Amino acid sequence: MDLGSLEITGGVPLHGEIRIQGSKNAVLPILAACILGEGVCVIENCPQIKDVADTLEIMRHLGCQIQCAGNTVQIDASGVSTFETGGEEAARIRSSVLFLGALLGRMGKAVLPLPGGCAIGERPIDQHIAALRQLGARFYLEEKITADAADLRGGQVYLGMPSVGATENAILASVPAQGETTIFHAAREPEIDELCEFLRRRGAQISRTPEGDLRILGGRRLGAVRYRMKPDRIVAGTYLLAAVATRGQVAISDFPCQELNALTTVFHDMGVSTICGEDRIEVNAERPLRALPYLETAPYPGFPTDLQSPLMAVLCRARGESQICETIFENRFRTIPELQKMGARICAEGRCAVVKGVPALVPAGLAAPDLRGGAALVIAALQADGTSVIRNTGYIERGYEDICRDLRALGAEIRWSDNG
Ligand code: EPZ
Repeated sequence: MDLGSLEITGGVPLHGEIRIQGSKNAVLPILAACILGEGVCVIENCPQIKDVADTLEIMRHLGCQIQCAGNTVQIDASGVSTFETGGEEAARIRSSVLFLGALLGRMGKAVLPLPGGCAIGERPIDQHIAALRQLGARFYLEEKITADAADLRGGQVYLGMPSVGATENAILASVPAQGETTIFHAAREPEIDELCEFLRRRGAQISRTPEGDLRILGGRRLGAVRYRMKPDRIVAGTYLLAAVATRGQVAISDFPCQELNALTTVFHDMGVSTICGEDRIEVNAERPLRALPYLETAPYPGFPTDLQSPLMAVLCRARGESQICETIFENRFRTIPELQKMGARICAEGRCAVVKGVPALVPAGLAAPDLRGGAALVIAALQADGTSVIRNTGYIERGYEDICRDLRALGAEIRWSDNG
């Protein structure tokens, strides 16, 4: 991973109000959806992050004409001429698997590298394959994933679990397929609903039933669209946790507070005062933090797995003993050894970790283990009395447009340094 590093001097309570970048986990499936149908797609408020850059490279390889200007990306997919994603970008990012559904929908065939596991787990794609098979796709799994679907057709898709990616792949394949599709046990993350909204704006007919299933009437023509990405709820949650960790007072404007209900419930339990407005959320953590006797991550609307490590960094200094159980990914406690270097008292046992709050964390030289683990180390360093250095910040840049810029805007003493 990149040798860039961050220098952070902790002990400063964060104060102020900021807006949040566009959503990484919504824009990645939306970019894949841009290869469906005709018409130029313009995406505004697109986050300038590594995962987006890699995805745009995959799309150029497929034959898309792409123009970027700041946070606006224009995509003309009329020239898509191949069904092979190729390139090492496709092997590098997990979300390239979303081109499986999009290429089957556009080309009737798809060839992708087997998406490697990653730092947080093995990340199989059996649910993706099962869903697409239920729409008529056939798979040949050798050293690559090869799928074809001469007659992709709508039908009943039963997901074995509410997988976000598998739900997105089923949507991307069923929108161009002839006939009606119902996706049972579909994931409910807001990013799924944003993908559906984007596709509706292009002419697709998608709705969510009262039970939470997705109903798609496929085969409709998809046209051009100019679409503005909604803010990233995990980035918002990260910065709110940073505010709480430093006992500060921070507001996030133009943000749908209800998307973080699971986090604001946790804040309430910890004694943090939270004001949830129509499109604004504010936290004030000037009182000592209570520990959390038990919390487990869960699919939306449960507590998001992507905020588990950042929350753990906050609990390191809460009063008492907390227990966190990670039910989504099998290897998402890799931040613990780094936090222990700072004096945190954490004991991991299988899927659960017990955190005994300590009065203070000490600064240290740290290594980001993955994207959200890196963000968690930033939060820990913001609490330490002294200067910490975090290397392998390339992980952080996969999902945070500029964590340094955003936290400096809230008063943090943080800067990029090149001593990797
Ligand atoms: C998406 O990953 C997000 N990534 C993840 O965010 C997020 O943590 C995750 O959803 C859960 O909310 C993007 O949207 C790009 P899943 P995804 O399929 O789609 C298992 C971040 O930090 N599973 O819901 O891969 C899987 O191994 C990233 O921004 C299967 O067993 O998540 C995992 O244990 C990290 N078979 C669990 O389900 C499958 O076919 C949840 O996976 C698919 C998944």
